[in-house]
Amino acid sequence: VDRLARLLGLSFPLLQAGMGGVAVPRLAAAVSEAGGGGVVALYKHSPDEIAALLADLRARTARPCGVNLIPELRTAEALHAQVAAVLGAAQHDLFFTFFGLPDAAVCRTIRRAGHPLLIQIGDAVEAREAFVRGADALIVQGSEAGGHHLGTTSLHRLLPEVRDLDLGLPLVASGGIATGGDLFRAQHAGASGALCGTLFVAARESAAHARFKQRVVGASAGDTCITRAFEIGWPGRPHRVLRGPLAGAGEALPRAFIARTTIAGKTYPIARFSAAVPTESTEGRIDEMAMYCGTSCASIHGVLPAAEIVHRFIREYQIASGGSPEAPIEVPMLDNGCVVYPRRSS
Ligand SMILES: Cc1cc2nc3c(=O)[nH]c(=O)nc-3n(C[C@H](O)[C@H](O)[C@H](O)COP(=O)(O)O)c2cc1C
Repeated sequence: VDRLARLLGLSFPLLQAGMGGVAVPRLAAAVSEAGGGGVVALYKHSPDEIAALLADLRARTARPCGVNLIPELRTAEALHAQVAAVLGAAQHDLFFTFFGLPDAAVCRTIRRAGHPLLIQIGDAVEAREAFVRGADALIVQGSEAGGHHLGTTSLHRLLPEVRDLDLGLPLVASGGIATGGDLFRAQHAGASGALCGTLFVAARESAAHARFKQRVVGASAGDTCITRAFEIGWPGRPHRVLRGPLAGAGEALPRAFIARTTIAGKTYPIARFSAAVPTESTEGRIDEMAMYCGTSCASIHGVLPAAEIVHRFIREYQIASGGSPEAPIEVPMLDNGCVVYPRRSS
């Protein structure tokens, strides 16, 4: 697992997914301070908003962090502007994560600037294309994942399929992972690390609405479903959400405004069937909004500080790989100053 940790300069290769509305600098910084890789969601933010978000992040941590962009939600020009804003503001180790394939020019720009480039893919064809465009690591998303889906294959089938392409890149398992034991098992199918979204929705520092966190904590895998209900603002992709009044049965309801939310100081109305998640600044019919959630919710039992989530995950990984729960965590330092949690024997 140290391959991905070395690439990104992390203590442990647990990445927190960039999640629009949820993954704010406060969350990303807390994850990175604990030794994982925190990621700030840049979603549809303008270059000015991106500069402010990265200034906030910098004020909170000097440890490596990531940013997340979604090429299919922006025109090529707007995506280039977002990337330029990140590069203009980046004063410390930043890695880029993309949901789906960015164009080749964006990939070149990021690589020339010396930042690690991670691309989330949902099938083997996209994996090859991400490799051709110069990705440094692939985030392999299985259909267990919360949020929008890039493919239709479960992680336990897709991961070995991508591993067998022999692209020589570290693979990051995404979807259905919420414990160190899950990562340990994914490692046997070729993963060098994990990217978790749902696990961090329930972090104390996440900006998800309290009702959203509470529902994730109380849910089991069967309480989630894949739907196309929440298409406004992000059309064309199925998404896994918590079952609610809209997912599945509510398509006949009118497209009225059902809530209001504030983003970067501006308040927006939220339409029923909008892709927007309920955040701490949202007021209205929260239960009718998109609460993206993966099957991994089954292993999430409380709202905890992000540092505790990361440390617990590391300890679970050590136990799964042969360590004992009471033993202190051994953290040998690498030359580059990052710490690697080794596989231990009892
Ligand atoms: C609430 C939520 C919002 C998400 N938003 C984004 C996003 O803005 N960008 C992105 O690349 N992925 C997003 N994802 C998907 C994650 O990248 C990842 O595929 C997924 O969280 C992995 O499955 P898990 O939720 O079971 O950990 C989101 C996931 C969740 C749960």
